[in-house]
Amino acid sequence: MYGESEMNESTATEGAILPSISGQDENGEHVVIGRLIRRLRVSEPPERFQYLAATVLRSSTGTESVGWVPRDPVAPPIVAGQVAGLEPIGYRSLVPRVGVDPIRDDPIVVDRPPPGAPAEVLRQAAAAAGPSGWLIALNTPAGRPFTAQELERLHYVAALIEAQLANARAYAELKGLLFGVIRSLTAAIDAKDPYTSGHSERVARIAVRIAEELHISPERRSDLYLAGLLHDVGKIGIEDEVLKKSGPLSDEEYRKIQGHVEIGVNILKDLKRLSHILPGVRHHHESYDGTGYPDRLAGDHIPIEARILAVADSFDAMSSSRPYRRRMGLMQIHEILDKGRGKQWDPRVIEALFACRAELEAIGQKGLGESLIGAVDVALGREMDSEEPRKSRRTRRDFRIPD
Ligand SMILES: [Fe+2]
Repeated sequence: MYGESEMNESTATEGAILPSISGQDENGEHVVIGRLIRRLRVSEPPERFQYLAATVLRSSTGTESVGWVPRDPVAPPIVAGQVAGLEPIGYRSLVPRVGVDPIRDDPIVVDRPPPGAPAEVLRQAAAAAGPSGWLIALNTPAGRPFTAQELERLHYVAALIEAQLANARAYAELKGLLFGVIRSLTAAIDAKDPYTSGHSERVARIAVRIAEELHISPERRSDLYLAGLLHDVGKIGIEDEVLKKSGPLSDEEYRKIQGHVEIGVNILKDLKRLSHILPGVRHHHESYDGTGYPDRLAGDHIPIEARILAVADSFDAMSSSRPYRRRMGLMQIHEILDKGRGKQWDPRVIEALFACRAELEAIGQKGLGESLIGAVDVALGREMDSEEPRKSRRTRRDFRIPD
């Protein structure tokens, strides 16, 4: 059963703070349905919404218990309240045996217990939620009959559960698609230059760690993680003889390499859900003193994400071996970063990196999947869950790199 412990604080109290609404209250439907619609988030597990719906419905009708029984026989019923002697699994025996097809003949609302129902069930109303399952309310106050409004409300809430399930499935597919696109792009970057394989993931992780030090919000850290993964995606469009050249570059070749930031933006610009990461991709080679590229931005005109990526990118490049040089020692790296503060790099970002330097050496490549799933969730959830107040969304979506 989906219990209180799995719900966040505001969700868990939903049933308790809801005033009891009698079936005669003309606003009852609006209040109950309105409350549920405001909490209808496609990015959360359907079980959470189902428990909330059962809790709100139970509170509004005063029934002893409301249970959601999924049609999938393996999925456990979700139950709010309790009828003595009836375990959640027992709700399966209460599903109406109707001689009609709930898929084609929805809505179905039945207001009596089925034959053979346990003796504890004195009153029962059940509503089919399309092909997905049944919502069952048990035992009205003092055993009175269900009112017409209550039966209608039961049907509405069942329909909402069905809608949330359908949307959650579509969301999961979209999430899987975006996850796959990002993984494919990072794999393409690694395949293009195997020598720097893993660089993007390390830059993403280092950037997030620096951002934590700078008290950047979880949502922006999540964007930063994706920007780190994809910051060099434009290198896919650079010819190999230039990209992999170990000797000095001609001016023309250097210009071609510089083009990777704009190529990167072009590759990503049609992925609307990733529009937040484009500034980081475009500007990660700007220099704090205004001598970088492509737009020669300076100081705070450079987006903070790009200033962080610039430091993380340089730190990881210096910490890794290249065909033309061995990796540098930490002392040497710190000396270079220290000299470049205020010139190539934002001094505050360098400060933040120094503050967490002990942890940076340990930042590896493990856990890409989990970090990426979290970041994709934030990227998709930003607009899909727009009903939710921004503040609580940020709190809920705390983005961290798993250890
Ligand atoms: Fe780059």
